[in-house]
Amino acid sequence: MPRHQPPGVAIRAMERRDADQVLTIYQQGIDTGNASFDTTAPTWQEFDAAKLDRHRFVAIDPTAEPGSDVLGWIAASRVSDRCCYAGVVEHSVYIASHARGRGIGAALLAAFIASTEADGIWTIQAGVFPENTPSLRLHAKAGFRTVGIRQRLGRMHGRWRDVVLLERRSPVVL
Ligand SMILES: CC(C)(COP(=O)(O)OP(=O)(O)OC[C@H]1O[C@@H](n2cnc3c(N)ncnc32)[C@H](O)[C@@H]1OP(=O)(O)O)[C@@H](O)C(=O)NCCC(=O)NCCS
Repeated sequence: MPRHQPPGVAIRAMERRDADQVLTIYQQGIDTGNASFDTTAPTWQEFDAAKLDRHRFVAIDPTAEPGSDVLGWIAASRVSDRCCYAGVVEHSVYIASHARGRGIGAALLAAFIASTEADGIWTIQAGVFPENTPSLRLHAKAGFRTVGIRQRLGRMHGRWRDVVLLERRSPVVL
């Protein structure tokens, strides 16, 4: 569990019953225009198939009703099927629009790093738009370095966009 968990927030494993809230929060992030090239959140089936089971977490408000308690989530996919990259994952982290800026992203990322390291995953990577200042700051504080800026990597609404490639190489998985 992260040491700096914000008050009034608990982190637990993501469950099937969280699906609707997870996808709603995903869409809220997409709607910022600075979270993803995607314009719509996937279905739960697509999400579930793409994300590793063992390292999915939600942040919840323990005082809220189940069904309206999820404040944010984090999950990851493998970057490659090649066995040399078995310990390399790419993650996504999304916080509900009303809950951003309270340290919840940092708490989820800390839980995710602990979980992946305990499972022998050595590198976490992420692609972040240069305009996404909160995400760049969140990741820098969690020990991610900027590998480089991938220029005009994809087109979104007719505009080419750069993507900052970030990675965190675990100091404990050797
Ligand atoms: C990016 C995101 C996950 C960050 O989560 P969060 O819970 O809001 O972030 P935190 O409160 O943990 O803050 C992490 C750091 O970012 C900083 N930060 C947060 N919001 C910020 C903002 N709007 N502008 C500048 N810095 C900001 C915080 O100050 C903190 O740094 P600090 O400890 O030095 O103060 C969240 O804003 C979000 O869900 N955005 C929409 C979806 C998205 O972009 N996901 C990432 C895709 S790569």
